[in-house]
Amino acid sequence: MTDPTHTGTSGDERVWTVLDLLKWTTDHFATKGVDTPRLDAELLLAHALGLRRLDLYLRYEEPVAAEARAHYRQLVVQRAGERMPVALLLGEKEFWSLPFKVTKNVLTPRPDTETLVEAALARLPDAERAYSVLDLGTGSGAIALALAHEKPLARITATDLSPLALEVARQNAEALGAGESVRFLEGDLFEPVRDELFDLIVSNPPYLARASAQALAPELAHEPEQALFGGDDGYAVLGRLAEQVRPMLEAGGWFLVELDPGQAATVVGWLEAAGLGEATILKDLAGRSRVVAVQNRSQPA
Ligand SMILES: C[S@@+](CC[C@H](N)C(=O)[O-])C[C@H]1O[C@@H](n2cnc3c(N)ncnc32)[C@H](O)[C@@H]1O
Repeated sequence: MTDPTHTGTSGDERVWTVLDLLKWTTDHFATKGVDTPRLDAELLLAHALGLRRLDLYLRYEEPVAAEARAHYRQLVVQRAGERMPVALLLGEKEFWSLPFKVTKNVLTPRPDTETLVEAALARLPDAERAYSVLDLGTGSGAIALALAHEKPLARITATDLSPLALEVARQNAEALGAGESVRFLEGDLFEPVRDELFDLIVSNPPYLARASAQALAPELAHEPEQALFGGDDGYAVLGRLAEQVRPMLEAGGWFLVELDPGQAATVVGWLEAAGLGEATILKDLAGRSRVVAVQNRSQPA
């Protein structure tokens, strides 16, 4: 079959409809090993046409003009050839039902991380209280801004080692109307907030093992290394967090950390050994151990 996204001067006058393009691209993506070929084709075509994805279903029989096909072709090539994630091609990802700008400088927020947000909200039960909250390694600002959206009184600080990520997080805060309510600070782990105490500390740190990088989905090559890898074994940042978190928590304050299911038991052990209370493992929607939660039950020094 001719490549319908091609808009060259071959004299190919055939009319390509929305449905033709979706069918062709779905097959093409499937051949190239893209996980969700039809969904990706729909999202990219809707983007090229300036439509919402659901609007495509009403326009299956409409022809697609050469200009839109040229834009679409570019997106298809980047998705299939370079394995660029759809969110990066669209420049946006929905998280906690909020739109987040994403660029190559931030991790694209994942649905798994909504488990962490939900667990965090459950630990901020008093609607009248101005809880102090820290999101360590905020990336796009996903966790901090989801919490700000739900808890407008909370005093939220979001930190990251990467100034480029913080720039995106600030833009997301502005766009979501939270520019005034979240404080963004740059630095390594707790260094930017060294003299403060928090009711809740949340973190989705880099936790993949660099040693297993070869086995990872090719899409991950488009995300910042600093957001993905926690050293050779995946534990570099988790270990430092477990070691340093206790003195940063108010008495009765909570620490919630996202991790790989295989890391949960080890991190529970570290947190308990650090003098915090009994740690609990929380599951994500797929039933995998995804978050470790622990409360500071140690006595103030
Ligand atoms: C897995 S991403 C999480 C991004 C965002 N919180 C989310 O859940 O989508 C980890 C983030 O931690 C940041 N980071 C890595 N090492 C750090 C460190 N030592 N101190 C502070 N932030 C760090 C990375 O730059 C990255 O933005």
